[in-house]
Amino acid sequence: MADRIRAGILGTGSALPKRVLSNADLEKMVDTSDEWIVTRTGMRERRIAEPGEATSDYATVAAERALASAGVAAEDVDLIICATVTPDMMFPATACIVQDRIGAKKAGAFDLSAACTGFLYALANAIGLIESGRIKYAVVMAGDLLSRITDYTDRSTCVLFGDGAGAVVLGPVEGDRGFYSFDLGSDGSGAKYLYQPAGGSRIPASEESVAKRLHFLHMEGRETFKFAVKAMASSTEKVLQEAGFTREDIDLLVPHQANIRIIDAARKRFGLEEEKVVVTVHKYGNTSASSIPIALDEAVREGRAKPGDLVVMVGFGGGLTWGSTVVRL
Ligand code: ACO
Repeated sequence: MADRIRAGILGTGSALPKRVLSNADLEKMVDTSDEWIVTRTGMRERRIAEPGEATSDYATVAAERALASAGVAAEDVDLIICATVTPDMMFPATACIVQDRIGAKKAGAFDLSAACTGFLYALANAIGLIESGRIKYAVVMAGDLLSRITDYTDRSTCVLFGDGAGAVVLGPVEGDRGFYSFDLGSDGSGAKYLYQPAGGSRIPASEESVAKRLHFLHMEGRETFKFAVKAMASSTEKVLQEAGFTREDIDLLVPHQANIRIIDAARKRFGLEEEKVVVTVHKYGNTSASSIPIALDEAVREGRAKPGDLVVMVGFGGGLTWGSTVVRL
C-alpha cells in the first residue's frame, strides 16, 4: 500500500499597506489616548489601504511571494482559497480575481468566510484535498481590509483593526514534516457578539441601513475577550494532544493577533514561554483572518521559524469560531 500523503507548508508570503495609522492619529479622530490603546490592546499602529484598493490587491502580492518562496509555478496550482470577510465584492470570489492575476490557469478558486479563524478553516480544506490525493498544490490566502467596515466614529472598535494579507503554498511533504492535527469549532449562539448587520440578505443596503451605520462591524468587546482566552487555550491543548505532542515540543506559537492581553492570557494558561510566541499586534493591529499568515511569514523571514520547527497556529473570531493546528515546517 502506498504511504499516506501528508500536506505541509512549502512557502509563505504577506503584503501590507504602506500607510500607517498611529495611536496619535486616532487621538485626533475619536476620544481616546495612546495610553488607553497600548495598555488595553498592545497596539501602537496599524496599516490602512488606500482608497480604491481592494483585498485582492494585497492577496495577489501575498500569493506571489508565497509561490516564489515555495518555488512552485502558478500554472501548477490546483486550488486557491481566500479566507475573507471583506471580499472585493459580494461575488465573484476574491480568490477568482487572484487566480487570474497570478496566472493559475488550472486552479479552482473560492472564498471562505469564518472571520478571523478563516485562515485555519481554509488550511483544513486544502489539506484534506491534498492528503486525499485529489490535488497537489494549493494557495491558501487570507486577506482582509477591515478598515472598509470599521466605523471611525466608534472608539470601541476603530482602534483595533488594520489591513493586510498573508498566504501559504501547501503541497505534499516528506519525512516528519507537515500537518499533524486540526481543531475547528463554532458556536453560532455568539454571532451577536461580533457581526456586520447589513449588506447581506437580512438587511440589504438601503438609505436607512446606511444612515443607521449598519454596514459597519459591531462588537461586544468584553464577551469576545472572555471567549477568546478560553478558546485559544483549550483548542491548543486539544490539537497537541491529538497529535501526540506536549507543550515542551512546541518551537513557536503563532496566535491570532487581536489583543496582546488575549495572547498573554492564553499563553500563561497554556504555560508557554514568551519568546516562543510570535507577536505583531503592536505594529499591524488586528488584521482579521490575515493575522496568522502575516505573523508566520514574518517569523519565517526573520529566521524565527525554521525548517523542522513544530509550530502551533491558533485563532478565534466572529461566528463565533475558533481553530488550531500543529504543523512541522
Ligand atoms: N479609548 C478610550 N476609552 C475607551 C476606548 C478607547 N478606544 N474604547 C472603549 N473605551 C472605554 C469604554 O467606553 C469603557 O468606559 P466605561 O467604563 O466608562 O464604560 C472603558 O474604556 C472600558 O471598556 P471595556 O470594553 O471594558 O475595555 P476592555 O478592557 O474590555 O478592552 C477591548 C476593550 C480592547 C475591545 C477588549 O475587550 C478586547 O480586546 N476584546 C476582544 C476583541 C477582539 O478580539 N475582537 C476581534 C475578534 S476577531 C474577528 O473576528 C474580527
